[in-house]
Amino acid sequence: MADTVYDASTAADYRAAREIPREGLTAWREAIAEHAPLRPGATVLDVGAGTGAFATAFRDWYGAHVIAVEPAPAMRELIPAGEGITVLDGRAERLPVPDAAADAAWLGSVVHHIGDLATAARELHRALRPGAPVLIRNAFPGRCDRDLRVRYFPETAAGIADYPSVERVTTAFAAAGFTRTALRSLPQRSAPTLAAFAAGLRRDADSKLRALPDDAWQAGLARLHRAAAERPAEPAVSWMDLLVLHRS
Ligand SMILES: C[S@@+](CC[C@H](N)C(=O)[O-])C[C@H]1O[C@@H](n2cnc3c(N)ncnc32)[C@H](O)[C@@H]1O
Repeated sequence: MADTVYDASTAADYRAAREIPREGLTAWREAIAEHAPLRPGATVLDVGAGTGAFATAFRDWYGAHVIAVEPAPAMRELIPAGEGITVLDGRAERLPVPDAAADAAWLGSVVHHIGDLATAARELHRALRPGAPVLIRNAFPGRCDRDLRVRYFPETAAGIADYPSVERVTTAFAAAGFTRTALRSLPQRSAPTLAAFAAGLRRDADSKLRALPDDAWQAGLARLHRAAAERPAEPAVSWMDLLVLHRS
């Protein structure tokens, strides 16, 4: 997974198809506030910030100053740098910030892209202030049955099986001086209806969907369209984990 290429077209597809509408993230907004009480002006390191959906959310929700670190130029270009958001080229294994620069770190759908988790955990320990949380939002092996992609494209679970497990991430971070403090499964409303979710899917913007054979992709789409026709008012709700670790 560490070698996914995000070019201009993938980055544009990512923005269109993978950014969750802000109003669908209420449970995430509340859970983050609970585990990382961020006063206005606090600094949040958004590692693997992508197109900046969560960087802008952290700024708007909590008044945080966000340092968005992103290695792919095409993704970085779409992050709205400016008031409250500083955008930097970099990666988790070598963060372009001084020691103790941040009050919290956010890793959204990134841990499976990081080649060297142990080094990344040590870097985050260096970059964070004592007691600061790392908030990891990810799909984890064995815990992804309620992910919408897995529900309608069950073969995607095989891809997630190769992701770092909760135990592996916890162990890597423990070795660097972090303690696991929470693991919660949280809902997000990805689209107002299943039909809208189906219409917005972009296979190229999601490594799990891209990896599917064509017949599995077509079968999943048919499943999704059938469900949308049977339950037209059902919102497209997906679940993902929030893993929280605190720095010593
Ligand atoms: C699936 S996207 C997630 C983007 C964003 N965090 C979000 O939740 O929308 C994964 C991002 O991680 C970045 N990435 C890949 N390897 C990385 C690394 N070693 N360190 C930091 N970011 C990395 C990719 O360039 C990509 O933008």
